[in-house]
Amino acid sequence: MIPAFIEQDAALVGERLARIYPEGSRTTKVLYDAQKYSLLAGGKRIRPVLVLETCSMLGGDQRVALDYAAAVEMVHTYSLIHDDLPCMDDDDLRRGRPTNHKVFGEDIATLAGDGLVTDAFGVILSCPYASAQSRADAALALSLGAGSFGMVKGQVIDMFGESNELSQDELLELHRGKTGALIEAAVRLGCHAAGLTSDDQRVEVLADYARNIGLAFQVIDDILDCTQSAETLGKSVGSDQKDGKTTFMRFYDVDGARAYAKQLTCDAIASVKTIENSQNLVTLAKYLAQRNY
Ligand code: IPE
Ligand code: IPE
Ligand code: MG
Ligand code: MG
Ligand code: MG
Repeated sequence: MIPAFIEQDAALVGERLARIYPEGSRTTKVLYDAQKYSLLAGGKRIRPVLVLETCSMLGGDQRVALDYAAAVEMVHTYSLIHDDLPCMDDDDLRRGRPTNHKVFGEDIATLAGDGLVTDAFGVILSCPYASAQSRADAALALSLGAGSFGMVKGQVIDMFGESNELSQDELLELHRGKTGALIEAAVRLGCHAAGLTSDDQRVEVLADYARNIGLAFQVIDDILDCTQSAETLGKSVGSDQKDGKTTFMRFYDVDGARAYAKQLTCDAIASVKTIENSQNLVTLAKYLAQRNY
């Protein structure tokens, strides 16, 4: 069962995201339609939930958290649109629908993603309820998580792993990058939404929590890709094997990989428990560790 606070947060984020893009004109409608198609298709909204719950735990303003949460979900959605392109994973199904390029074509899908990632920074930087310091800290955290030292780096190692053997350390770097970095950014955004600056001790504790759940999240994603149905996941399955990816399933069997994810989750919980009011982040970590979709 999905914890109630996750469903409530996801609904709030959905409303915020629905206000980003307009109807558009005869010439621009296709762009906004493509962006809304992927952005409003659902998805588990884990990253925005992390922003909201981290900020709320620290006593911050929810209106700021909602803008930052929308931004990280926009970046995540762009990464999925591009990840599915024929030149990347070449997949047909995402969030229970045909992938963006299947509906809108590769050109518009590429541009829809370009717009989403760029607009995300605008959403942060124009948040009327946040201080200038908070907005700058948040924009930097998102840049580091999303860019060439975070998610994009991970995606490049992922591609390298299609035609080369990766060591276990390289696979860890891949997973920490392609998935962990944006999850860490989400928690950092929650901290900055609450006005914490990067030198606050709690930011490092929470970043450590995020790195552990982020790695566990991708380990489970690897398990699900080869054990679940497309109907359950709402996305293409068997994609890793089709593309010859190096995943955690090269080093572990399903039970071993689940045990590894569980250990990472225990480590995450141990660190976050040292912070007051962290009950929802504990619940979230446990919920993610046992997810089947
Ligand atoms: C899928 O992310 C891609 C990974 C980084 C593993 P999610 O599993 O969070 O996808 P949505 O947002 O729920 O569709
Ligand atoms: C994560 O990796 C992709 C990113 C968007 C960074 P995957 O390629 O494993 O994600 P899925 O399985 O297609 O959702
Ligand atoms: Mg991929
Ligand atoms: Mg993929
Ligand atoms: Mg995957």
